[in-house]
Amino acid sequence: MQFKNILPAALAVAAVYAQDDSSTSTASSTASSTASSSSSSSSSSSTAGPANLTQLLANTASLSAFTNLIGNYPDFASNLSSRENITILAPSNQALRMLNSSGSGNSSVASMLTNSDFAEALLNYHVLDGEVYSQNITAAPTFVPTYLNDTMYSNVTGGQVVFARTEDGDVQIVSGLKSVSTVTEANVPFNGGVVHIIDQVLMVPGSLNTVATNANLTALLGAIRIAGLTDTLVGSSDLTIFAPSNSAFQDIASALPSNSSAMDVIANLLTYHVVNGTVAYSADLANQTLTTLGGSNVTITVVDGGIYVNGAQVVNPDVLYAGGVVHVIDSVLNPNNMTMPPGASNSSSSTGSSSDDGEPDVAFDGTSSSAVPFTSGIPTPTTTVTDLVTTIDTLTYTPTMTAEPASDSSEGIAGALARPTGAMGAAALFGGAAFWAGM
Ligand SMILES: *[C@@H]1O[C@H](CO)[C@@H](O)[C@H](O)[C@H]1NC(C)=O
Ligand SMILES: *[C@@H]1O[C@H](CO)[C@@H](O)[C@H](O)[C@H]1NC(C)=O
Ligand SMILES: *[C@@H]1O[C@H](CO)[C@@H](O)[C@H](O)[C@H]1NC(C)=O
Ligand SMILES: *[C@@H]1O[C@H](CO)[C@@H](O)[C@H](O)[C@H]1NC(C)=O
Ligand SMILES: *[C@@H]1O[C@H](CO)[C@@H](O)[C@H](O)[C@H]1NC(C)=O
Ligand SMILES: *[C@@H]1O[C@H](CO)[C@@H](O)[C@H](O)[C@H]1NC(C)=O
Ligand SMILES: *[C@@H]1O[C@H](CO)[C@@H](O)[C@H](O)[C@H]1NC(C)=O
Ligand SMILES: *[C@@H]1O[C@H](CO)[C@@H](O)[C@H](O)[C@H]1NC(C)=O
Ligand SMILES: *[C@@H]1O[C@H](CO)[C@@H](O)[C@H](O)[C@H]1NC(C)=O
Ligand SMILES: *[C@@H]1O[C@H](CO)[C@@H](O)[C@H](O)[C@H]1NC(C)=O
Ligand SMILES: *[C@@H]1O[C@H](CO)[C@@H](O)[C@H](O)[C@H]1NC(C)=O
Ligand SMILES: *[C@@H]1O[C@H](CO)[C@@H](O)[C@H](O)[C@H]1NC(C)=O
Repeated sequence: MQFKNILPAALAVAAVYAQDDSSTSTASSTASSTASSSSSSSSSSSTAGPANLTQLLANTASLSAFTNLIGNYPDFASNLSSRENITILAPSNQALRMLNSSGSGNSSVASMLTNSDFAEALLNYHVLDGEVYSQNITAAPTFVPTYLNDTMYSNVTGGQVVFARTEDGDVQIVSGLKSVSTVTEANVPFNGGVVHIIDQVLMVPGSLNTVATNANLTALLGAIRIAGLTDTLVGSSDLTIFAPSNSAFQDIASALPSNSSAMDVIANLLTYHVVNGTVAYSADLANQTLTTLGGSNVTITVVDGGIYVNGAQVVNPDVLYAGGVVHVIDSVLNPNNMTMPPGASNSSSSTGSSSDDGEPDVAFDGTSSSAVPFTSGIPTPTTTVTDLVTTIDTLTYTPTMTAEPASDSSEGIAGALARPTGAMGAAALFGGAAFWAGM
């Protein structure tokens, strides 16, 4: 009722735009175009096809906030109305309301959404290429490209993805930082595709810095910095990164040079963990060899549902970031020792820490564990993030707004977002800390 009145003008404009573009849907639209503001809601005039998007949104009370949000972005609305064969993941009113009440509250989020580049990226991330129905989704994750096309968040050939899966009978959409949205109402048809209503706004994948920090991969980040690979890796597209956990680095601490005089050694080690030119999600990994950035191959083995890279096990797959995907592994790979059998690093049971036995089987000879290396000066995650050793479990991500305000606090969060060195915090809520590129 009330929602029809606040249906944004942008959509109405988009409707006209779409009509001009496609002569297919003239039958019903011309008939009722004059009575646009009246509530002739039932579209059963002549054709019995599904509603168009404008009608669907107007008639779905739980999407009024989403409808309003779209209304602020006429280009996006116009684009959306003119597309066919799409899936829209539409956050419910409650999902959007949760954003406002999380962290330090309304003003920060409201400010972020006034950054139109970010807001459009966020909206585009909620649109999937192709029609995906709940029946198409299984327990094995499906990786679906979205319309997110801003290279700040999507420097991935074919488009940044979400993955869809079922768990305990729920249909879930997993996005940046492995944030899980549950579909609360599936398969709402419209003439351009299908809408699923979700209970939580998707997280736009952030930069490698942001994501690795939140995933507690601080030793890796430190190593990248010491090796002088920050610019090479952080600004790149289409990477698959096998990221040793902090405890993996810790297990071989004695074998690792600790200062920058050894940057070549560390760079050589790190580039053995990166595959360039291929974004291989877990569903893409099979028994195969992959050639790394360093030139040597790693051997992928998939056995009993476990994924292994040489001897290391993938303990947290599919951490999406702007330039590709990170799979967390439980031991550091050795470019000079590729012989380790799959799972050799898996010295203790599923709860993880391979140092339980005191003698982790690592790919490096005669090493011992000490403090986590390379972490000096690397920010520790402020969130209660990662339970990285619980395999496919998601990061329990709690959005925080606790980062320092922008140095010039008068410009607010949106201003901070627009600068490459802006603080984390509110930005990280959406992975918007892709802007936080400085290390
Ligand atoms: C959607 O349907 C309504 C009512 O039939 C019509 O007024 C509107 O122009 C249509 N929009 C599009 C994009 O076709
Ligand atoms: C990204 O998508 C928007 C519409 O959502 C479109 O206007 C824009 O042209 C696209 N940009 C690229 C680079 O494809
Ligand atoms: C969130 O807060 C902003 C600013 O206070 C407001 O404009 C918007 O309507 C709120 N959204 C929801 C869903 O409550
Ligand atoms: C819909 O989109 C999917 C994914 O891009 C594509 O594979 C399929 O061919 C498209 N179908 C139609 C009818 O355009
Ligand atoms: C997805 O589900 C729809 C409806 O059940 C079906 O028509 C379509 O073939 C399925 N697509 C795929 C790729 O399985
Ligand atoms: C709509 O968005 C898609 C995906 O970003 C883009 O490829 C397309 O060019 C856009 N269309 C228009 C008319 O802007
Ligand atoms: C995307 O990747 C390309 C290299 O393929 C790089 O030149 C560009 O700076 C990256 N864009 C962003 C926003 O990181
Ligand atoms: C991050 O890693 C360090 C070192 O392994 C560990 O002590 C700490 O508990 C981890 N933090 C989180 C939030 O998991
Ligand atoms: C990946 O390969 C592309 C194409 O060969 C190249 O332009 C890019 O610099 C490489 N990325 C890295 C990180 O080396
Ligand atoms: C992959 O290799 C492992 C170990 O060699 C083997 O057990 C498994 O069956 C292979 N998987 C496939 C699909 O061939
Ligand atoms: C690496 O693997 C590729 C196939 O993926 C193969 O062609 C190449 O010979 C391998 N290189 C080495 C050094 O084994
Ligand atoms: C290679 O890895 C194996 C673990 O499978 C380890 O026992 C051996 O000491 C390593 N060799 C070297 C030279 O690091």
